[in-house]
Amino acid sequence: MIILAIETSCDETAVAIVEFQRGKVKVLANIVSSQVKMHSKYGGVVPSLASRMHLKNITPILQRAFRNAKISQKKIDYIAVTNGPGLIPALMVGVGAAKALAYGIGKPLIGIHHIEGHIYANWLKKCDDEKNKLWQGEFPLLCLTVSGGHTQIILMKKDLNYQVLGETLDDAVGEAFDKVAKLLGLGYPGGPIIEKMAKKGDEEKIKFPRPMANSGDYNFSFSGLKTAVLYEVQNCRNKAMPCSYDDQYKQDVVASFQKAAFDVLVSKTIKAAEKYKVKNIVLGGGVSANKRLQKLLADAIKSNLPACGFSFPQSKLTSDNALMIALAAFQHVKYEKGIKTWKSVTADANLKLK
Ligand code: KG4
Ligand code: ZN
Repeated sequence: MIILAIETSCDETAVAIVEFQRGKVKVLANIVSSQVKMHSKYGGVVPSLASRMHLKNITPILQRAFRNAKISQKKIDYIAVTNGPGLIPALMVGVGAAKALAYGIGKPLIGIHHIEGHIYANWLKKCDDEKNKLWQGEFPLLCLTVSGGHTQIILMKKDLNYQVLGETLDDAVGEAFDKVAKLLGLGYPGGPIIEKMAKKGDEEKIKFPRPMANSGDYNFSFSGLKTAVLYEVQNCRNKAMPCSYDDQYKQDVVASFQKAAFDVLVSKTIKAAEKYKVKNIVLGGGVSANKRLQKLLADAIKSNLPACGFSFPQSKLTSDNALMIALAAFQHVKYEKGIKTWKSVTADANLKLK
């Protein structure tokens, strides 16, 4: 069975063509065209520019995907597309292209929730290989999804079954990384830059708050942490405290900020995992690329829940891509959920995970 998947929810135009056969996965094409260079000039994603770039790129990328896969359109069995959540002008380009393709070749269309894709990115254990294995999943399973738009703890009792236990009440954790990088003049996107700089800093140097660490629920808040970083930096710059605003200082600030953010993510994930007695914890989303987060969570699982499994996606699959959308779509086909025609799939910026 061959699935063609499209992802355009933010600033990556992505197409994948993937063959699923008896538990084996063959990635026939996997193209991601990033617009990051263009948006970095503005310090963040500009939705109208994103949609213009998706429109310019989507057809050539589809053509290239078919060339790479060396198959004709007739061989495609299902088309899948991220239909939300995300930037509506960006989503509409991918959904429009997917609908036209589904109509043109007369095949079913599956709308995929973006976070579902980030979760199922974990199901592929090796990329590039001709014979990737598909993980079966061991439930109950807890997902910590951390991206530029989301921070959620999700309980899955079985495939395609999602219960959001908690989420951020304001900024997503990736958004906080981007904003802290911006206020220090470090560039966009902030996450990878902060991770690299933090390695040279002392994460215990500045005592930033751990927002909502003891709130008794699984919700998060990162806006106050970002403001605490802003005040700290302003006080240093204005000489309101003895401090020199140099590289070492900035490295200590980002390391301490990163540790504060991750401490809350890790402690709440462990609490939820204990309460729901999960067999596995999986990470997903752009921030899951962060090695410090991977290590902190792995260590916490080892000491608190030694029998619990832990997975994070391969680095290629942490940021937005269409292969993860194909992996989620495969589950929809397997369980016959959400298989529609081109007529009934629409883009929804606020799509809920159901
Ligand atoms: O999942 P993603 O590619 O797009 C969204 O769905 O939002 O996530 C992008 C976010 C950005 O905020 C970026 O700064 C963050 O993921 N990010 C990281 C790292 N790599 C990307 N944050 C922390 N450490 C990283 N290594
Ligand atoms: Zn994403």
